[in-house]
Amino acid sequence: MAPIITVSNLSKHFKVARRREGRWRVLRDLFAREYRTVRAVDDVSFEIAPGELLGYIGPNGAGKSTTIKMLTGLLVPTSGVIQVNGRTPWRERLVHVRDLGAVFGQRTTLWWDLPVIESLALLQHVYEIPADRFRRNMDEFKALLELEPFLDTPVRSLSLGQRMRADLCAALLHDPQLLFLDEPMIGLDVVAKERIHRFIQYINRQRRTTVILTTHDLSDVEKLCQRVMIIDQGRLLFDGPLDDLRERFGGRRELIVYFAQAYPSVDVEGAQVTERNGTRATYQFERDSVTASALIGRLSARYRLRDLQVREPEIEEIVRHIYEDRLLACSTG
Ligand SMILES: Nc1ncnc2c1ncn2[C@@H]1O[C@H](COP(=O)(O)OP(=O)(O)OP(=O)(O)O)[C@@H](O)[C@H]1O
Ligand SMILES: [Mg+2]
Repeated sequence: MAPIITVSNLSKHFKVARRREGRWRVLRDLFAREYRTVRAVDDVSFEIAPGELLGYIGPNGAGKSTTIKMLTGLLVPTSGVIQVNGRTPWRERLVHVRDLGAVFGQRTTLWWDLPVIESLALLQHVYEIPADRFRRNMDEFKALLELEPFLDTPVRSLSLGQRMRADLCAALLHDPQLLFLDEPMIGLDVVAKERIHRFIQYINRQRRTTVILTTHDLSDVEKLCQRVMIIDQGRLLFDGPLDDLRERFGGRRELIVYFAQAYPSVDVEGAQVTERNGTRATYQFERDSVTASALIGRLSARYRLRDLQVREPEIEEIVRHIYEDRLLACSTG
């Protein structure tokens, strides 16, 4: 199938003023400001097929939002080519927005002072959505996102989770083929997250909408995506199946154990103790060689346990593994 998005050698550089130190800083800045270049996105290439649900992850400041802004036509690239549905987003922005929906977790696209329902009604006019389609979509999203209780509430009074649900509805009312989600789960609790996970899955599967989801939480991606791209400092570090990523870099998991008493030694086969602090110990183990429950079984046979916690690796950790791996590959030829 022909890709819906093609990105070739895409870069976005920002010029930012360098901060100077010293007494005459302000005066010196007045005459000659010094600039440095931030390579927010640096020579990135990828293709996305229609119907994919892709996870785009990376640490803070990696370049995720900058990429999304270029794909939606909000930012003009410094260099490189973007084709979405055969169009260059920033050049044909007005036509382009009809094919896409976007949710930015950091800020709402709805009118701050208007009740949710009025914001949505305004969007019907903006996108010229036929009345019957608008009603059908509203009915469906009202049920799926449980919007009813706050439809008459002004957007500024919504809780974060409610606002995100209203924004999702707003982004999808005009049946876009493409949905860009930039950190839609940010700051949400587990229940609210799960509701949004289910909704994203539904939109992708039932409506066959292509979804690009940025997040720095690996667990969002593990629940939803098969393919994942990792970006760090503007460079694409990984693009492939989530399983490959896990196998190569994310195989290690952590088990944190709180013992009922301080034992002199807390060793157990199949895992390494990486940290000890009083009655608490952190173990690392390979996902493929032992299961968490087997490990817990072995531990509880030997020690009295008070509490447990299994931790997945953070994105920063995986990024570090990728760099280490590359370094190793370089040094061994
Ligand atoms: N308008 C701008 N002017 C100058 N620098 C910018 C601008 N927008 C982004 N940057 C810089 O570009 C880099 C990438 O930013 P971006 O917002 O794309 O990261 P991100 O991956 O979305 O991070 P986060 O997880 O924090 O949202 C950062 O160093 C950021 O400071
Ligand atoms: Mg961002």
